[in-house]
Amino acid sequence: MSINFSEDAGGEIITATVSLPEDYNESSLRPRTITEYIGQEKAKENLQIFINAAKMRNEPLDHVLLHGPPGLGKTTLAAVIANEMGVNMRITSGPAIEKPGDLVAMLTNLNEGDILFVDEIHRLNRAYEEILYPAMEDYAIDIILGKGPSANSLHLDLPHFTLIGATTRSGQLTAPLRDRFGVTLRLELYTPEELRRIVTRSAGILGVDIVEAGAYEIASRSRGTPRIANRLLRRVRDFAQVKADGVITKDVADHALSSLEVDKLGLDAIDRRMLRSIIEFYGGGPVGLDTLAATINEEAVTLEDVYEPYLLQRGFLTRTPRGRCVTRKAYEHLGIAYMGQQQMDL
Ligand code: ADE
Repeated sequence: MSINFSEDAGGEIITATVSLPEDYNESSLRPRTITEYIGQEKAKENLQIFINAAKMRNEPLDHVLLHGPPGLGKTTLAAVIANEMGVNMRITSGPAIEKPGDLVAMLTNLNEGDILFVDEIHRLNRAYEEILYPAMEDYAIDIILGKGPSANSLHLDLPHFTLIGATTRSGQLTAPLRDRFGVTLRLELYTPEELRRIVTRSAGILGVDIVEAGAYEIASRSRGTPRIANRLLRRVRDFAQVKADGVITKDVADHALSSLEVDKLGLDAIDRRMLRSIIEFYGGGPVGLDTLAATINEEAVTLEDVYEPYLLQRGFLTRTPRGRCVTRKAYEHLGIAYMGQQQMDL
């Protein structure tokens, strides 16, 4: 498999491959096969069947929509699918497609069986979505050349390809686009045990000495997210090297993570600020997301996509029609006395 990270849009290369050292390492940590890919058991089980069936019929895989919070491995899973299908994958993203020609160029440059991966597909310009409909359904596009009475339409056949769309917010996709994906897979937050296996595997690749309890400590403080687990592993390794003998034990991990302000349950400074603000300024809630975002000076989408999923999953936060509320558990975790929910009249 070769993954082409350069996007040949509108006849020009628009993305050079410039990666930070850690991004580069991140790709070396990525699993390449379904067997290497840890967790997401339900999604993997179904996917394996669809891949086997498509291969038996000698057909490309049906279009796949991957959705779930950031950092759970949507791009990684798409690359695994490409590898398992034995095809190439081209990568782009909704916001990178600035004009219809970008999308047409991507589609016409595909080879038979290729995968086109569109990250953040919910941010694709709605007007350009219509190019995708016939491309996905009939492997063809119709291009209008010129304007007015002299306009001509050009019908272009495309190779049989698979579109893999990734999104953190499938609700923002239009129904016609969503309906054209034959396979929809929701990625869930990982369990600490799954993350422990990922941390152990990554430590092996990076050549870091780690004991099982050390890996579990990092895993259980990584908000259910492999990207965070791998980042924390690197930082804990720094502490282990400088402050200990290089081995990541439970104590070394605990010390390092506490220094990084990642608490016992994996909440970071922003998680805690979010919960504390709801308590201190809004009596525990309910408070609207935009109001909360303005209060703590963060973007509402960041709070919703990045922070809320873990806080909801751990039962620190609830969503009500009138806004977000913190739970008794959040008070207890923050060490703030709980006096019953104070209803605010908004
Ligand atoms: N690295 C990041 N995500 C992973 C996963 N799901 N399995 C194995 N290694 C990973």
